[in-house]
Amino acid sequence: MKKINLGIIGCGHWGPNYVRNFSAMPEARVVWVSDLKEERLAHIKQLFPGVKVSRDCNRLINDNSLDAVVIATPTVTHYRMAMRCLRAGKHVLVEKPMTTAVKEAEILLDLASKRKKTLMVGHTFTYNSAVQTIKELITQDKLGRLYYLYSSRTNLGPLRSDVNVLWDLAPHDVSMFSYLLSCQPVKVSAQGASYLRKGIEDVVFITLYFPHNIIAGIHLSWLNPRKVRELTIVGNKKMLVFDDLNSANPIFLYSKGVIRKQISLPYYDSFREFQYIIRDGDVTTPKVAMKEPLAAECRHFLDCIMAGKEPHSSGRDGLSVVRVLSAIQNSLEDKGHLKEVR
Ligand SMILES: NC(=O)c1ccc[n+]([C@@H]2O[C@H](COP(=O)([O-])OP(=O)(O)OC[C@H]3O[C@@H](n4cnc5c(N)ncnc54)[C@H](O)[C@@H]3O)[C@@H](O)[C@H]2O)c1
Repeated sequence: MKKINLGIIGCGHWGPNYVRNFSAMPEARVVWVSDLKEERLAHIKQLFPGVKVSRDCNRLINDNSLDAVVIATPTVTHYRMAMRCLRAGKHVLVEKPMTTAVKEAEILLDLASKRKKTLMVGHTFTYNSAVQTIKELITQDKLGRLYYLYSSRTNLGPLRSDVNVLWDLAPHDVSMFSYLLSCQPVKVSAQGASYLRKGIEDVVFITLYFPHNIIAGIHLSWLNPRKVRELTIVGNKKMLVFDDLNSANPIFLYSKGVIRKQISLPYYDSFREFQYIIRDGDVTTPKVAMKEPLAAECRHFLDCIMAGKEPHSSGRDGLSVVRVLSAIQNSLEDKGHLKEVR
């Protein structure tokens, strides 16, 4: 079996996780790692002595023996990096968000299609077993008709300087919501503030309007006392909380709701014509297979290259997320006015 030769560009906080995962897969061989910082390369060399390292990513991009490149550099560099790799005939797995502009994402998608190369985006949450379990619960109608969702993604740092908290963290929630609901929001609005550095929002509150009257909220912050990674979904049959920091029991399913009962009265002109009954039932914790989401994502990338199939988090999904993020950014700059997702 021919191994897929890989290069990884960017080995700061996140990139080494790709090196570790691909190095453990028999179908892959990590040939090159590139980073601008010598100390990051020394760190990789110590952990993986067989991997070639360079501060110059061109050495890797121009190596004809390489089949694919993973891009884990800062967000603002994604477009140019991915463009160069696709032009050099490589399959590309680029971190989220795919780009910082809709036009750029469209160009990458077009280029990948013309060159017949796999273009995948690191929407890691769509490979998370808990999120996949929630998707099954929704598909099996266990939650009933969905009313609303909200997600909190807060912590004290880490601060980024190339993008604001919206472009850094919202790709997780936007890709997760779209995956769970199998559709995109139609309209969005957002407000935020830059407390630490002028022009870089460190706290943002977003509202997304999905088809079928489903509303969703996202609270993002780099300036919060608690690390929170929580998603709540409210349906008319059941309600659910996903706590990504609770690895033993990430999902709590509540048999709670409000039943609206019509009372048979001879007249219907008073508040008594309806009765609202609170249903307060059991709380259960569905079993979730403990797997590293990034390992599933890496495996899927290899499968897609080998089978020539479109990834679950394809360039097209990357473009959809960038469209939503751009509309949110427009609203942020326009004092929270409602914006259509185009
Ligand atoms: N999917 C996820 O769950 C997840 C989690 C964390 C980060 N990320 C994404 O991964 C990317 C990297 O995040 P991070 O936290 O590792 O950032 P980081 O700043 O810690 O690391 C980025 C690294 O890229 C290197 N770099 C920059 N330009 C380069 C170039 N031209 N050639 C080679 N190396 C270069 C830097 O030296 C740095 O070490 C971001 O896009 C981020 O959004 C995704």
